[in-house]
Amino acid sequence: MITYEQGIRLLKKYNLNDNVTNHSIAVGNTCFLIATNIIKNNKGPTVTIDGISYDISKLDPEYVKVAGLLHDIGRCRTNSWEHARESEKILVEEGDPELGRIVGAHGDFILPEKHVNDFDLYQKIVIYADSITLYSILSLDERFEGVLERRRSAGLLKEEGMIKDSIKKHQILETQMRQLMGNPIN
Ligand SMILES: [Fe+2]
Repeated sequence: MITYEQGIRLLKKYNLNDNVTNHSIAVGNTCFLIATNIIKNNKGPTVTIDGISYDISKLDPEYVKVAGLLHDIGRCRTNSWEHARESEKILVEEGDPELGRIVGAHGDFILPEKHVNDFDLYQKIVIYADSITLYSILSLDERFEGVLERRRSAGLLKEEGMIKDSIKKHQILETQMRQLMGNPIN
């Protein structure tokens, strides 16, 4: 299991630039906040939202924080949407396949064939944290404006279309997360 301190060292080992590093630290912090709010808001051990049962008893805020910290480590290899798969590969290589599984999913969320509930609680927390965090917590609208602008200037127009189409899914995810936490954090 990769710890937070080991995660920080991995970001250096794979030469992530300052922007990605600062975003990664911020997403890790948001993940921690979401997980602790979910635990505080629910007596557990399980909570059911939209017909989906979540096992809160196993939710470890420290581990979700590490997932948030390392979700974009694959950007050392590519900035396309495949970066999430690269993050997964790196974390498997670094000996934590479960962490790899969690972060690998964040690139799949925008795929049209994927549904919100195809993702488990850990994956949802990372995806949601990423969708409301650049270097600090933002609204979904503010965050997407920036994401679309960066895709546009990078000439990644196919991704721009997919991201636009995925906004409704992100709103559904936000509603679920707010229900789990009991309160909005953005
Ligand atoms: Fe990412």
